[in-house]
Amino acid sequence: MATIDPHSHYDTDQPRTRHLRLNWFVDFENRQINGSVTLELEKPSAGFFDLDTKALAIRSAYGQNGEDIPFEFGGEDPILGRRLRLDLPEGTALITIDYTTSSEAVALQWFEPELTLGKRHPFMYSQCQAIHARTIVPCQDTPRVRVSYNAAVTVPEKLAAVMSAGPAGILPERGPGTRTFLFHMPQPVPPYLFAIAVGDLQSRDLSPRARVWAEPGMVNKAAYEFGEVEQMIATAERLFGPYEWDRYDMLVLPPAFPYGGMENPRMTFLTPTVIAGDRSLVDVIAHELAHSWTGNLVTNASMDHFWLNEGFTTWAERRILDAIHGEKASALRWAIGQKALDESVARFGSDSPLTKLRTDLKGVDPDEAFSSIPYEKGARFVTLLERHAGRERFDRFMRAYINAFRFTSITTEEFLAFLEQELPGAAAAVNADAWLYRPGMPANAPIFKSEQLDELVAAAEAFAAGELPSPQQLANRDSSELLVFLQSLPRRLDRASLDWLDQNLGLTRRGNYEILVEWLTIAAGSDYEPVFERVREVLLEVGRMKYLRPLYSALGKQARTRALAREIYLQGKANYHSLSRRVIESVMEKYSEEVNS
Ligand code: BES
Ligand code: ZN
Repeated sequence: MATIDPHSHYDTDQPRTRHLRLNWFVDFENRQINGSVTLELEKPSAGFFDLDTKALAIRSAYGQNGEDIPFEFGGEDPILGRRLRLDLPEGTALITIDYTTSSEAVALQWFEPELTLGKRHPFMYSQCQAIHARTIVPCQDTPRVRVSYNAAVTVPEKLAAVMSAGPAGILPERGPGTRTFLFHMPQPVPPYLFAIAVGDLQSRDLSPRARVWAEPGMVNKAAYEFGEVEQMIATAERLFGPYEWDRYDMLVLPPAFPYGGMENPRMTFLTPTVIAGDRSLVDVIAHELAHSWTGNLVTNASMDHFWLNEGFTTWAERRILDAIHGEKASALRWAIGQKALDESVARFGSDSPLTKLRTDLKGVDPDEAFSSIPYEKGARFVTLLERHAGRERFDRFMRAYINAFRFTSITTEEFLAFLEQELPGAAAAVNADAWLYRPGMPANAPIFKSEQLDELVAAAEAFAAGELPSPQQLANRDSSELLVFLQSLPRRLDRASLDWLDQNLGLTRRGNYEILVEWLTIAAGSDYEPVFERVREVLLEVGRMKYLRPLYSALGKQARTRALAREIYLQGKANYHSLSRRVIESVMEKYSEEVNS
């Protein structure tokens, strides 16, 4: 037996699944999906066949002629879940499994109507990356096994279902008071890209191939915010080759969504915190769209090669912004990314194996290993290659890379072999070994300089030294500039400085969450009482881990803000996603260490 993914029971000696037929009944009352999956194997097979499952109740398994297939569970592993071992009779080509998900399925978040925008209908959505697909369907849950799929999804009749797939019609009343949405996903995808959402959803067209879905109260705002999307798709096609997924739709989720965006094919899932009102946070769209090439077409073989997804995509996101909004805008994005990178390296320690690009996550939960390192260290490594080859030559390389590996899942080493073939000597010239296999930041990291950046950092340093900028000097800045300024300020300021900032820049009332959270982090960490209520509102509303981590950490610095954090967490706990809860709890565990020291 041979396993190749530290987070899956998939055995390379066994046949691969090539297609799934999902037959789901979404039960809001019990917070379960009930139904079956039929797995189509690449060839008729016999003997042991292992699947990944986590918190699934399996009722029965049978083959194409209805004959029972015996099965047994392996032991429970806290990260991987349980292996489901089926013993296939000779000639098995189709396996149907009847099952029910648990109300604890990590991939699913369920909302009572009160927690939605409209307050009248329930809502649910899935988030399968990194290894949670196995909590909604028994499958070979590794990116090495790509599958196409069909689905029939029965939901209460007032609600709509969307998936990371093409719509294939709606059937009335499979059961009383229901509608059944049909889907077809012809392109093979890794299981972490399965996705579903059900709720009171409406859509607006943005172009012939792009549309946004959201609750009715949000859909017009969202349509304005994402109005540039067709231009982004066209730009990305010019850079990376044809868009291969037919449509590019987007879904705005409730604010409890633990991420900024998720690149589910044909249907990017998004936090509503990207809707700033002025299109200032559309880099998230550029990022998720870019995954249509780097990630969804060329996919990491396992989470040990996650940088192949996120490093290339972060680099691509900035190339798209660069083409649409110019180099000034992308230089600021690189600076903002540098800050996130420094923080992640500091959190793990610069000699931690988690700071390598190529990781070894056997026994490590990928959600615990998550950080900005694969994104920002990865994107800097790609930039070094780009600078070494020259932009034109590197762009040709990128198109060749995507074309060579489209619809496959590859390792760092497979990437390196292709790089050596196409750009001989490039890897050695940039010291790829240090970037990929050694911790910390190599000495030849690229530097992104701009005058504007220097100016903003200088203004922040002057401010910290007691020199007030003229309000106009900052008021005319766009959001990224203001964010760079705030990020360059000390983490603790005196009351007069904080008063000045809020009075002159209106920070507590900002609609741009990047700015709002950066400000609240400084203010809360400075024990600045006037923001406490706004901090509470944000923490009770938003589940995006990128915002929860700094805010809860900042609240840990003083006794009274620690008490506030504990109180807010108790109040909000039930409504957080389980992943968000884990992040907050790990932050709060460190509170007591600080008190003791
Ligand atoms: N694929 C990621 C989100 C993800 C990663 C979910 C790992 C689960 C496990 C997505 O593309 C992403 O990177 N989102 C970022 C967007 C940002 C970098 C523009 C986010 O959520 O903040
Ligand atoms: Zn990403």
